[in-house]
Amino acid sequence: MAKNKINKNWIHDHINDPYVKLAQKEGYRARAAFKLKEIDEDEKLIKPGQVIVDLGCTPGSWGQYARRKLAGKEGGGINGTLIGLDMLPMEPIADFHFIQGDFREADVLQQLESVVQGARVDLVLSDMAPNLSGIHDADAARMEHLIDLAIEFSQAHLKPEGSLLVKCFKDMGFNDIVLKFRAEFKTVIQKKPKASRDKSSEIFLLGRGLKNPTEGGMASAQPLDSEGWHP
Ligand SMILES: C[S@@+](CC[C@H](N)C(=O)[O-])C[C@H]1O[C@@H](n2cnc3c(N)ncnc32)[C@H](O)[C@@H]1O
Repeated sequence: MAKNKINKNWIHDHINDPYVKLAQKEGYRARAAFKLKEIDEDEKLIKPGQVIVDLGCTPGSWGQYARRKLAGKEGGGINGTLIGLDMLPMEPIADFHFIQGDFREADVLQQLESVVQGARVDLVLSDMAPNLSGIHDADAARMEHLIDLAIEFSQAHLKPEGSLLVKCFKDMGFNDIVLKFRAEFKTVIQKKPKASRDKSSEIFLLGRGLKNPTEGGMASAQPLDSEGWHP
């Protein structure tokens, strides 16, 4: 199909997409909020008091959703800790500790770890996807690499009963990724929320409960303060 036609189709779908309209109505920065919302409502992932790490968080709709779940009824601050990371900048979200950088780079991972260190993480979210080159095998390898890093991070920082939710694509190394999840997590569930377009091979994998929790993830207990720093 010609590029122009693809663009026109995308714009047509986008304008008529009920989740785009709903996102505007409910003040979310992206329709992606409804993917997390549906998964959360099914699986009861997000609860007050939790420490949540949001990988690939820009423009911030997952962060906004998580913040609303952690906020008290009367407004004010949140009960819990939200830390997000993205290579692109993000408009601030109140009570959300944002780190800008590439998750694949050691110094960025170190920055994230220095914020997280001491806090036991309840939930790691990853909506990261690489910029697609169009070369399938290269793109699949990049996607798998990002997910490997998210699994490694979760293995090191999650509470034993914590969870990891990652975006995958069915045509990008998915079976391998499922096997890796099964090796690390007690329960592994596939989720295709309604807001994830049927046309897309996007699917989410949820791993719950580490099979082999690390000492570090279990021993540390000092929570971050409301601004995301160690007291
Ligand atoms: C689909 S968007 C995330 C949308 C977000 N969940 C929301 O609800 O607003 C994917 C994000 O992953 C980020 N990303 C991709 N690769 C990354 C990497 N290596 N390190 C950090 N962020 C990355 C992109 O910059 C992009 O902002």
